[in-house]
Amino acid sequence: MQSNYSKNSKMINIPVKLGEKSYGIYIQNELIKSIPIILKKEVNPKNIIIISQDIIIQNYGKELLENFNKNNLTCEIISIANSENAKSLNEYDKVIKKLFDFKCDRSSIILALGGGVVGDLAGFVASTFMRGIKYYQIPTTLLSMVDSSIGGKTGINTKEGKNLIGSYHQPKAVLIDPYFLNSLPKEEVYSGLGEIVKYGFIKNIEFLEKVDYWLDDIKNFPFIEAITESCKIKAEIVSKDEMESGLRRILNFGHTIGHAIEAHVGYNKIRHGEAIAYGMLCAGWISEKNNFLNLNEFEKLVKIIKKLPLPKIPQMQKDDLLPYILKDKKNEKNKFNFIVLDKLGNAISTDKISINKILESLIILS
Ligand code: GLY
Repeated sequence: MQSNYSKNSKMINIPVKLGEKSYGIYIQNELIKSIPIILKKEVNPKNIIIISQDIIIQNYGKELLENFNKNNLTCEIISIANSENAKSLNEYDKVIKKLFDFKCDRSSIILALGGGVVGDLAGFVASTFMRGIKYYQIPTTLLSMVDSSIGGKTGINTKEGKNLIGSYHQPKAVLIDPYFLNSLPKEEVYSGLGEIVKYGFIKNIEFLEKVDYWLDDIKNFPFIEAITESCKIKAEIVSKDEMESGLRRILNFGHTIGHAIEAHVGYNKIRHGEAIAYGMLCAGWISEKNNFLNLNEFEKLVKIIKKLPLPKIPQMQKDDLLPYILKDKKNEKNKFNFIVLDKLGNAISTDKISINKILESLIILS
C-alpha cells in the first residue's frame, strides 16, 4: 500500500519504564537502515538471529544483510511458517534446534522481524532459550507496530486455545519503520486501525477525536502520528502494569467477543483488528445497556467504528460464540473480567457483566 509515510525524518523515542527492564520504542522512516548501528551500540552481540517469514525476507532480507555486512556484523536467518500455525510447539522446537545448529549461546540476540505471529513466537523462543536471551521487536504490520510488539507478551498456541503457553519477556527495544507498511496490502494496514481506535476509546478522548476526523479521509491517514500516539498510550499502560494485574486489562476492550468472532469465523477469513472492531461494537453496546456509557456516547462509538473498512461477517447465534467465551483467559475462577467504557476515553474492568449479556450483544452486529 503506497501512502504518506514520509512526513518525519526525526527519530521518535517513547520510553517503556520498567526499571531495569526499561526500553525504548523507536519510530522513524527507513529505520531498517540504522538497525545494525543501533545493535552495535547497544549490545555488540556475537551472533544475531533474525526470525521472520519468507515474504518479509524476500522484501527486506537482502537489504538488512547488506547493512549488517557493512557494519561488520554477521547474522543468520530463520524463516518460520507463514500463518498463525507458526505459533506451535512444533515450530518452536524447530527454531530452538536451529539456534543450537548456529551455536547460539546466552550472548546471542534475536530480531523478531514480522507481524504478531513472528513477534509472539520469537519472543517466546528468546524468553526460554538458555533461560532467556535478548531480543528486539521489529514489527512490520500496523497491528504489531501499535500493539503486539510492545509490552513483552509472548506466546504460542495449543489445541486447547491461543496463547495458552507464553511468558512476559520484554524486548531490548521496539524498532518501528513505517515504510514497512508500503509493502502490505491495504486491507492488512486497515485492519490495524481497529487497535488504533481502541486506544482512543480506552484512554484518550482527544486522540479519539483526531482518529475520528482522520478516518473521514482514510487514504491520507497520518500513520506516523497515529502510531506514535498509540505507542505512547500502550507504553504508559505497560509501564504501570507490566503483568496485567489491573490497568493493563483495559487493552482487552473488544477482545472477549473479538477473539470469539475470530475463532468462529476462522482466522483466515477475518483479520484480528477487524474482529476487534466488531468486538468493540458489542462491548460498547454492553457498556450502554449496563449504564456505564450514555446513549449519545454509544452512538458516537458506533459512528466511529462504522467508518472503519470492515468485511461483512456471517450472522452469528449465541451458541456459536459461547464455547469461545467460556474458554477466555479473562475468565478467572468463574469471575469474568469484562472491559467496559464508563465514558469515551476511559475504560474500566468489571465482573458485573453476565455471560448472557455478552452473548446478547451480538444483536448490534445484525
Ligand atoms: N495486547 C494486549 C496487551 O499487550 O496487553
